[in-house]
Amino acid sequence: MKDDIERVLIDEEVIEKRLDAIAAKVERDFPEGTLLVIILLKGALVFAADLLRRVSRQLEIECLNVASYHGGTDSSGRVDFLDRGFPEVKGRHILLLDDILDTGRTLHAVKARLAEAGAAAVHTAVLLAKDKIRDEEVSVDYVGFRIGDEFVVGYGLDYQGRYRNLPYVGVLKESVVGK
Ligand code: IMP
Ligand code: MG
Repeated sequence: MKDDIERVLIDEEVIEKRLDAIAAKVERDFPEGTLLVIILLKGALVFAADLLRRVSRQLEIECLNVASYHGGTDSSGRVDFLDRGFPEVKGRHILLLDDILDTGRTLHAVKARLAEAGAAAVHTAVLLAKDKIRDEEVSVDYVGFRIGDEFVVGYGLDYQGRYRNLPYVGVLKESVVGK
């Protein structure tokens, strides 16, 4: 698996330090009371596991499975909610976690849905944000790292379902992506 990586963009230690800082900020920003964390599957799993263990607050966890269809697959840029149910969010203070902010469609759609369902407040955290013009402008409260507009894997992010378990964020070799 590691042989498929062209270069490491953000290594494990750097990520861990950044998560300490984000967790401290989350603890300061949220009002007293139990926080509801919503993890967007599957990409935010690793980020969430490492971040939440640093947050010293009462919290509950829900997961949402969404799929976004970009460019080639569906030009309408639809975001589908794949779960049968939707968590009870009315009146809750929510921390929404995703792996990466790319076109902005996913977070835009999920935030709209949470607002519609009566969430009291939604804060958003992403491990990565691509530096690009987004299809949907969406404000994010905590960004781990800003990166260029290139395809990355690892630390939860996949290419064709794989590489999520790499402990760092990296760029794949062209020979792997071309296959
Ligand atoms: P959106 O385009 O902002 O809606 O991002 C949707 C999803 O695309 C993210 O949650 C990721 O799962 C996926 N994605 C976007 N960019 C990358 C990348 O560079 N590597 C792996 N997955 C990505
Ligand atoms: Mg994904």
